[in-house]
Formats: sequence, structure tokens, C-alpha cells
Amino acid sequence: MTSHDRLLLQGLSKHYGRHQVLRDVSLEIERGCFLTLLGPSGSGKTTLLKVLAGFERCSAGRLLLGATDITRLPAERRTFGLVFQGYALFPHMTVAGNVAFPLKVRRWSRQRIKDRVQEMLDMVQLGHLAQRRPAELSGGQQQRVALARALAFEPDLLLLDEPMSALDRKLRGDLQTELRRIHRQLGTTFIYVTHDQDEAMTMSDRVAVMDHGQLMQVGAPDDLYERPDNRFVASFLGRSNFLPVERMRRAEGGAELEIGGAACRFAGPLPDRQDGLALMLRPENLVLAAEPPAPGWNELPGRVLVRTYFGDRTLCEVEVPGVGPVSAYAPPRALAGLAEGDPVRLHWRAEDGALLPAT
Ligand SMILES: Nc1ncnc2c1ncn2[C@@H]1O[C@H](COP(=O)(O)OP(=O)(O)OP(=O)(O)O)[C@@H](O)[C@H]1O
Ligand SMILES: [Mg+2]
Repeated sequence: MTSHDRLLLQGLSKHYGRHQVLRDVSLEIERGCFLTLLGPSGSGKTTLLKVLAGFERCSAGRLLLGATDITRLPAERRTFGLVFQGYALFPHMTVAGNVAFPLKVRRWSRQRIKDRVQEMLDMVQLGHLAQRRPAELSGGQQQRVALARALAFEPDLLLLDEPMSALDRKLRGDLQTELRRIHRQLGTTFIYVTHDQDEAMTMSDRVAVMDHGQLMQVGAPDDLYERPDNRFVASFLGRSNFLPVERMRRAEGGAELEIGGAACRFAGPLPDRQDGLALMLRPENLVLAAEPPAPGWNELPGRVLVRTYFGDRTLCEVEVPGVGPVSAYAPPRALAGLAEGDPVRLHWRAEDGALLPAT
């Protein structure tokens, strides 16, 4: 096994009894990639990670590291580092002892272990706490020791299952930054599980969105956000509006749409189907206006329903006849003269949004 190879998941399925937890998961993970598995609770993220680690056997499919089939290779022979939830530090060992453990198992020499432990603890900025026991550390410090222990033996791949779920927001942020720095520094492949979309978007090179054991879409964070393939991905990542499309006609550079009885233009990629579509628009694509739209922009009329103040911006919900409530972000000052119930126009550019199946 060399560390220069990509990990290939081919049609992985997993059943627990009659319950299918993974459905035909295929994915290619380049070496050095930071890939995040993102999905709601119960979508199969941990199960997939366990299959990759070798703790669970898949019911069908193959797992290849480079050209080597490792589907049936036992966990202890896979050179993968693990940071799992509840995969605790050894309480009776010091911090240094914990990091040294996987190296002793691998029979590294005493001097090499000493140097490596120092190097790893410096990397997670805990060199000064080497002689403490885990109970004498904060949660975030313990997580960093777990990370140092998992990376100490230079694994081909690091598997992390919601390693930060128990931490407060500030500590999470700090550790996220640290994890990205370590990833850049080492160039090890990271496979990271979370159900936190912000974490997935900010940390990853690529995100694989899962639902009900299935991969719904895989791509760079901005790809998934701006060009979701389906409604699940669009609504799982960020806020989105789905405007039912009453009619669609292909036209030069895109399509003519009818939405809420109004004619609109769409200038993005068109799906194969012509009916049962919705136009997905992000709240930041919509502009609240008093004037008619500029050329190249679309318009729908509505009335202000609710305003939610976020400090840096305000989320404004607008009732659009024939469509329903539509959410738009606006700078707080733009709404100065507007009260709930006031008429308002919603504008967006023909290039914005995506045409997706409505259901
Ligand atoms: N050992 C098991 N036996 C039977 N069913 C299981 C077992 N482990 C997990 N499952 C089921 O498999 C499905 C996927 O579980 P999994 O732990 O992979 O989800 P997850 O995406 O990691 O969720 P969470 O975000 O809550 O951690 C769930 O419906 C779960 O109940
Ligand atoms: Mg899980």
C-alpha cells in the first residue's frame, strides 16, 4: 500500500438486517483531499466511515486504495488514523503517552517515538501539557490530543467523525482553523463527518451530501451551493426559495418562465424535463425594490410579511400572490421606510438561481 493513491468507493451498500443503511455509494477521493460527508442524522455518515475504517463490512461493493482491493482488509491492517466520537483517550496515560501509544504498537524506536510525540504535540500546540492526564485537559485540548494521536504514525488517511460536536462555538472555530492548517501542512487525505453545513462549507475541498444512505451530490462547496442538483441539496445547504414554474419555454440563452402569472427569464443550465420544475433562488439573490427592474432582471410583486433582524442584514419574508412566501436578504437600512403589509417588488437577475425538479 502506498500513500500516493486515491481511495475509490465502488457501489458500497450496507444492510442491518432488512434495513438498508448505505445505498450504492460510489466516490473517488483524491489523495490530499479534505472531503466532508454531510447529511442529516441517520443518513449513514458514521456507517460509511466505519466501512472505510474496516469496523463494519459492506454488504456489496468494493473499496480500493490505489490499485489494491482493501474491501476485506481488517481494520488494524489499514493505515488509517481515526478520530471518532467517544473514541476516548486512555485516561491512565499522560498526553505524551497517548500520542506515543500507536507508535509503540508499531514498534518504533524509543528515540523516534520521543521526537515524533514532541513534533505532534507542537503541531497541536500542546507541547507544554505533555505530562498531564486527559482528565486535566479541557474538551478542546482532549480533541487536539486525539488528533495528534491519530496523525502520529503518518496514516494514509484520517477519518474524523464529528470530532467537535461536544465543543462550544468559539472552541469549535479555533479547532476548525487548526485542523485546516494541519491538513495543509501534512497533505494527508481527510474524510470528515459532520451534520453542520457551515462547518462543511468552510473546511472542505469537496463535500459529499448524503440522505437515506445515498450520495445526493458531490462537489466543491460553491458548486453545491450555487448549482445544487436537487431540492434536498439546495435546502440542506443554506436558505432557499422554491418558486413553482407554471410554464417553461426554451429560448435563446436559456428559457422563458411563467412564475406566479408573471413572465420571467432564466439564463442558466436547463434540466431535461420541462414540467414539474421550481426556480430555486437564494435570499441573497433577491433584491427588494420600489422601482421597476433594470433590463436583464425579473420582477414579482408582493407584500412584506415578516422581518427578522440579524444585525448585518435583515431577512424579509414577502408574500407573493400565486407563489407564497419568498425570503430575501436586505441591508437593514434598505428597509427603513417599509412596514409589515407594505407592497414591495422582488427583483432578481436572469442568471441567478437554478431550475430543479419541484419535489
Ligand atoms: N449496528 C446497527 N444496527 C442496526 N442499525 C444501525 C446500526 N448502526 C446504525 N444503524 C442505523 O443506520 C442508520 C444510519 O446510521 P448512522 O449512524 O450511519 O447515521 P449518521 O448519519 O452517522 O447519523 P448521526 O448524524 O446521528 O450520527 C440509522 O438509521 C441507524 O439507526
Ligand atoms: Mg454519526
